[in-house]
Amino acid sequence: MHSILVAPSVLACDFGRLHDEIHRAEQAGADWLHLDVMDGHFVDNISFGPAFVDAAASAATVPVDTHLMISRPDHYLPRFLKNSHNITIHVESDCDVASVLKSIRSAGRTCGLSLRPGTPFSAVEPYLNAIDLLLVMTVEPGFGGQAFQPAMLEKVSAGAEYRKKHGLGFRIEVDGGIIAATARDCIAAGADTLVAGTSVFRAPDMSAAIQQIRQPSGR
Ligand code: DX5
Ligand code: ZN
Repeated sequence: MHSILVAPSVLACDFGRLHDEIHRAEQAGADWLHLDVMDGHFVDNISFGPAFVDAAASAATVPVDTHLMISRPDHYLPRFLKNSHNITIHVESDCDVASVLKSIRSAGRTCGLSLRPGTPFSAVEPYLNAIDLLLVMTVEPGFGGQAFQPAMLEKVSAGAEYRKKHGLGFRIEVDGGIIAATARDCIAAGADTLVAGTSVFRAPDMSAAIQQIRQPSGR
């Protein structure tokens, strides 16, 4: 239904050369730019905040996909709205999820909902008719460079089945440990939007890496 999109995660780039890294990713075929915001509470890491998102957005020509791994997305949301095309919040965060999703859409942005590896698919079900994107975390959020968790493919399939059964149109995004081989399994399970940090920014040939994630031909 949806075209396959690849969203390089800036978390894995050289922050000292942010604009060059973003241009490099765009020239290599990035469809979206994925920005991982971490507050040191929701996850055990602090990445960057609104000023950095603004700096990245000022260099980007592709849509900015902001992933909020923060405890209070309701409180900080206004600071990310201006420069994000999509904003994804976590179902486990400490907020009224339905109301934050609504605020994102009211601001003219698309909204995403994510779940950690330990959170069952049933936790996101009540919100699936009110989202533009379901982000299935395929690693524990907080750090790049971790190994893909194959057990998460079940949640990707569950999302695809639910989407079909209820005639919904949300994208299904996967994030964590995505390389060509894991991308292939995710796409087979129903994912259409692939976030990749390490395997894209640290690849010897970034164009080839993005191409292989978008159209994985084998292991
Ligand atoms: C992890 C982040 C990911 C991360 C992915 O908490 O949400 O977006 O950057 O990194 P890789 O692709 O290296 O697993
Ligand atoms: Zn992410």
